[in-house]
Amino acid sequence: MVNIQDLWLTYPGAASPSVKGVSIQIEAGEFLTLLGPSGCGKTSTLRSVAGLETPTGGSITIGATRVFGDEGRCNIPTHARDIAMVFQSYAIWPHMTVGQNVAFPLDVAGTSGDESRRRVAEVLDMVGLREYADRSATQLSGGQQQRVAIARALVRRSSVMLLDEPLSNLDAKLREQMRVELRDLLKRVGMTAIYVTHDQEEALMLSDRIALMQGGRLIESGTPRSLYLEPTTVFGATFLGAAEVIAVTARHGNRVDTAIGALQLERVLPDLTHVAIRPEAIVIEPTTGVSQSNDGINRMPATLTSVVFSGRHQQLVLELPGGRRLNAQVDATRPFAPGDAVVVALPPSRLMPLLEDAAA
Ligand SMILES: Nc1ncnc2c1ncn2[C@@H]1O[C@H](COP(=O)(O)OP(=O)(O)OP(=O)(O)O)[C@@H](O)[C@H]1O
Ligand SMILES: [Mg+2]
Repeated sequence: MVNIQDLWLTYPGAASPSVKGVSIQIEAGEFLTLLGPSGCGKTSTLRSVAGLETPTGGSITIGATRVFGDEGRCNIPTHARDIAMVFQSYAIWPHMTVGQNVAFPLDVAGTSGDESRRRVAEVLDMVGLREYADRSATQLSGGQQQRVAIARALVRRSSVMLLDEPLSNLDAKLREQMRVELRDLLKRVGMTAIYVTHDQEEALMLSDRIALMQGGRLIESGTPRSLYLEPTTVFGATFLGAAEVIAVTARHGNRVDTAIGALQLERVLPDLTHVAIRPEAIVIEPTTGVSQSNDGINRMPATLTSVVFSGRHQQLVLELPGGRRLNAQVDATRPFAPGDAVVVALPPSRLMPLLEDAAA
């Protein structure tokens, strides 16, 4: 539905490009999130798709229409692209009612009064604001205003919705509620969505697929599950959640040498440089107990240097014999105390083989 090929963007007067060779294809009905730290080029990429920035190179296709290409000789203006947009600032017109705000794109497109009224009612229904149609848009809460912005984006029935941090102005509770609402709504209408956020949890919860960006480049992409459980880069592993990253000094088949000893892996990558494990995947056992005799694979003695109870979990800091510390997260009910001697196991299935930099 949207095909971005080798997109480059250098802002006028800028020393270096803000978008560097990004290529990604978004399927019809797919919810794709561009995720990455501040300044990595998410908004620049999205605005290029919208036609609000003129790329330096590459091509963009929306549906069957090429909207940008040939070094800018093909460059279809924003209003003629089959897209709708929602931004962080709701851009609600204060002098209009809710209904007038939502009807505005239809007025511009010359849609007839009856048809317009029907479609405005339909989208206001979808966002749960039917009774608010005649209210002044300024008499709404932040969450309601953002719903108006979403309704206004839906009303033209474009194929693709572009959203740039649309929930970041809302308080935490409302943001969580709107997340689920927004996803359900876009799925229901079958719209293709490109969503920009720097919030990992939001990306994991909303997306069919996440494209991870850093320094203007697309580093890796995948489903939330695959990207969280099986990232392939150090950046991917650490950006999407906490991870203990351990450098690899040598590899022999599925076994790697590291500063904390030899580790057995279930998966390997040809040029892996690191392995990593998520805190919740680290298994901790008492030094005395039944399971200890198992196999000895990836097991090592450790001392607990810190135990922090946080209600749902306990955050532990473990110190291995060589002095390396690992953060682990375990069930809140387990009776651990600082100073405890334990056995740490790093399950081969949860060790993630990584490349230093896949972008190179
Ligand atoms: N209009 C502009 N002119 C010059 N440089 C710009 C312009 N807009 C963005 N940049 C630069 O391009 C780079 C990417 O910016 P962009 O806004 O795309 O990042 P982002 O990933 O959306 O970040 P954030 O999460 O903070 O919104 C940054 O270095 C930024 O300073
Ligand atoms: Mg941005």
